[in-house]
Amino acid sequence: RSMNDQLTTMRRPRVVAHRGANDVAPENTLAAVRAAVTIGVDAVEVDVQCTRDGVPVVLHDATLARTTDIARRYPHRAHDPVSTFTYAEIRQLDAGSWRDDAFAGEPVPTLEQVLDALRATGVGLLLEIKHPETQPRLVDAVADVLACFSPGVAVTAQSFDAASLHAFGRLLPEVPRGLLVHHAPRQPVLEAWVSAVNPWYGTVSSSYVRRAQLVGLETYVWTANARAAILRAADAGVEGIITDRPQRALDLLRAT
Ligand code: G3P
Ligand code: CA
Repeated sequence: RSMNDQLTTMRRPRVVAHRGANDVAPENTLAAVRAAVTIGVDAVEVDVQCTRDGVPVVLHDATLARTTDIARRYPHRAHDPVSTFTYAEIRQLDAGSWRDDAFAGEPVPTLEQVLDALRATGVGLLLEIKHPETQPRLVDAVADVLACFSPGVAVTAQSFDAASLHAFGRLLPEVPRGLLVHHAPRQPVLEAWVSAVNPWYGTVSSSYVRRAQLVGLETYVWTANARAAILRAADAGVEGIITDRPQRALDLLRAT
């Protein structure tokens, strides 16, 4: 390879499929994880929460109402928090039909199942510790599963909740951590306790990315979907782009 090719390869941001390839399969399901692997992303982002009996499961919302058939099975509990259900209850749910009948029966996956689906694929996992403020067992439960089942998968943890990332870092210091933020911080050096700062894409400039790099921080932006947004993030020099349009992002970035 020429030096130019190598530079081009080094500069291409990693493409992270947000909630899996959720444009072709229901978000945060094994179908979406597998679809992302098939199209060749660099990593998959999913959200993890904890059942009442301590099982880390993959789901975005605080309740099961939008993305499962909970209202049919447990009508009186449809808007209760995920953390009030046991895994035995959650595993019966259908997390695919709301999206398309073709995905009927697709379960709410456990974190362990997502790790199994990614192992040996070369595709990493960007794991968002979701709603930890209301789930005191979440960080411990996630760390336990990762300690047993993450070998063979490149995992980075991320959260909007700094306290939870600190707690996670004490349990598994070898796992990189990214702090999710809404705005790119004016002083990235203050966040040098994590390995990445992950802001909303609209607040990231090339000068921010350079200042972050100077203190050893990577930048993964969320959630850049439009062509212009993806190209703007790439131009700013970010290390990663979290996107609902992973195929589009790969096509655009390969073409630049
Ligand atoms: O990866 C960042 C992004 O997922 C944060 O927002 O609401 O989609 O979890 P949300
Ligand atoms: Ca997320």
